[in-house]
Amino acid sequence: MANDIIHHRDRRSVNPIFNDRKFKLGTFQTNLDYGCLMSDVEGRLKITWPNTLELAKLADAMDFEAIVPVARWRGFGGKLNPAGPGFETYTWAAGVAASTSRSAIVATSHCSINHPITAAKQCTVIDHIANGRFMLNIVTGWNRPEIDMFGVEMLPHDERYDVAVEWLDVIKRLWTAQEEFDHEGKYYKIVKGYLQPKPIQQPFPAIMNAGGSERGRHFAAKYCDLVFIPLGQPDFERNKAQIEAYRRLAREEYGREVSVWTSANVIQADTEAEARRFFDYIVHERGDWEAATFALDTIGLNAKTFAPEALKHLKELFIAGWGAYPLIGTKEQVVEGFTTLSAMGLDGALLAWPRFEDGMREFRDKTYPLLVQAGLR
Ligand SMILES: Cc1cc2nc3c(=O)[nH]c(=O)nc-3n(C[C@H](O)[C@H](O)[C@H](O)COP(=O)(O)O)c2cc1C
Repeated sequence: MANDIIHHRDRRSVNPIFNDRKFKLGTFQTNLDYGCLMSDVEGRLKITWPNTLELAKLADAMDFEAIVPVARWRGFGGKLNPAGPGFETYTWAAGVAASTSRSAIVATSHCSINHPITAAKQCTVIDHIANGRFMLNIVTGWNRPEIDMFGVEMLPHDERYDVAVEWLDVIKRLWTAQEEFDHEGKYYKIVKGYLQPKPIQQPFPAIMNAGGSERGRHFAAKYCDLVFIPLGQPDFERNKAQIEAYRRLAREEYGREVSVWTSANVIQADTEAEARRFFDYIVHERGDWEAATFALDTIGLNAKTFAPEALKHLKELFIAGWGAYPLIGTKEQVVEGFTTLSAMGLDGALLAWPRFEDGMREFRDKTYPLLVQAGLR
């Protein structure tokens, strides 16, 4: 029996991820120690509940569209073990949802270690707490040490996406089916599948995936509302072409429109020289090169796949902001950077700052008004 006192709503009207802002914004990795940083910089994020909540409240007050955590079960070692201590994302999202009122709140789920019935139910609870602002980020897992920790087999890369397809299929049926159902698939068996109440969002909550491989992009284009593209090189035309190709893939192969985002790391100062000096300080004076090397090695980016200079540059970007597109300079240059990202065809970006809280406050006071003036917000 459906519960008729619950006010279900069209997700397009209730989840800000679907609003018509020209350039959407989110925060990234605020549930983990060091945030996106691998460097011992004063003012870096130290993970406590008050600290993570403060960042969520800042994002919410600026009307950011999304607050996106990272599902991480162990850190990257080295001197600092960045991303080691951290909050599990469903429970974190429930707490953040209860304390915010505008941004979409994301829980990030590894399919292979969260049963779809549990996941569907947890997502639903968060969607109720958030009154329709929930979004699910599906990840298939690449970080072998953390998957090994669960004692489950890490399947070959493309097969992980086969699991994700079936996992999501079960979840969507639980979210939408009014009748109980059985499911006998390759990876899951469901007997008399039942889920009530249904999520607030109709027909079901927003979904994102940040797969970067060919298989990952097909999965995201076919099933997700929000997809991601890493901007490796600051090459405008190349990036623009890749973004267009992603939209074309979704449109032509799957008859769908997707929102394409990237992630960016904001390093702002009063002068460009000062901002660049700060980047060097983060990377060369305080950076944890050992942790960055371990993380990149685990991803499969190492001396076998990259020329030495390119690998060094990649490590610098990982130390300063988990490899995100660097927006370095004065507030005007940072805004120019956002204008460029928008002109490339992107719909939004997840942001991080090395000094997360101070950076967000400065962004709110000095930079955000210029973004509004530039017509991006
Ligand atoms: C914005 C963003 C968020 C991501 N969040 C997570 C996460 O929380 N946990 C995780 O294990 N991987 C995460 N990833 C990794 C992706 O889900 C994906 O596995 C990776 O980009 C490699 O693509 P592939 O799986 O298609 O090979 C994230 C990537 C991006 C760009």
